[in-house]
Amino acid sequence: MNNNLSKHWDNIHLQYNSTYDGWLDKYIKLFNKDDVILELGCGRAYCSKYLFDNGYKYVIASDFSEVALKIVTRDNQDIKTMAIDISKPLPFASNFINIMIADLSLHYFDDLTTRKILNEIYRVLSIGGYLIARVNSVNTLLTIPQEYNELGKNFYYDGKMYKRFFSKEDFDILFEKFKFYSLSEKKMDRYAKTKILWEFCVRK
Ligand SMILES: C[S@@+](CC[C@H](N)C(=O)[O-])C[C@H]1O[C@@H](n2cnc3c(N)ncnc32)[C@H](O)[C@@H]1O
Repeated sequence: MNNNLSKHWDNIHLQYNSTYDGWLDKYIKLFNKDDVILELGCGRAYCSKYLFDNGYKYVIASDFSEVALKIVTRDNQDIKTMAIDISKPLPFASNFINIMIADLSLHYFDDLTTRKILNEIYRVLSIGGYLIARVNSVNTLLTIPQEYNELGKNFYYDGKMYKRFFSKEDFDILFEKFKFYSLSEKKMDRYAKTKILWEFCVRK
């Protein structure tokens, strides 16, 4: 595990909570009740909880923050949790997971690491399986504070963590192997200021 970063996230998880905002509702029709569903970077796992409460019993909530996983177990004892650092190879056999959910957890990595993560997601997804996710859009950069250090194209360090912002062209390149079910830009007001995000659903 990347200790400094996961400890940083531990502190955030002790302070902040969020609630499910309905974003997965439109994808539920793609799921089967016996699908194996893996949430990556689950935080307090409101997506996993939403799916579990709606009858999807094979949900695994994963994060590299031990604090986040402890909170998930404390609040939802029936949801399976796993400590997974998504910048490392995923601890699953190829084609094992039917659905992967990643809400605001795939945009913390440099380009090479992002490519490795997406290769791993592709490997582990079953044929026809879906990755459904939201990531920062470059259009949020308009509100990026000046103290952010630009380390590469659309890749920043704010003194505590790294942040990547995705352009439409990034999707064309990074998700070349996947088939697109949907991709659209949305606004989110969750963290005090408005963020522009890409919401997407891709298929293996
Ligand atoms: C903005 S939070 C989103 C949490 C949750 N998905 C939500 O929307 O409430 C980003 C999450 O990614 C997790 N995360 C960041 N880097 C990670 C990594 N390398 N491996 C696994 N999880 C990571 C953090 O611990 C955090 O829970």
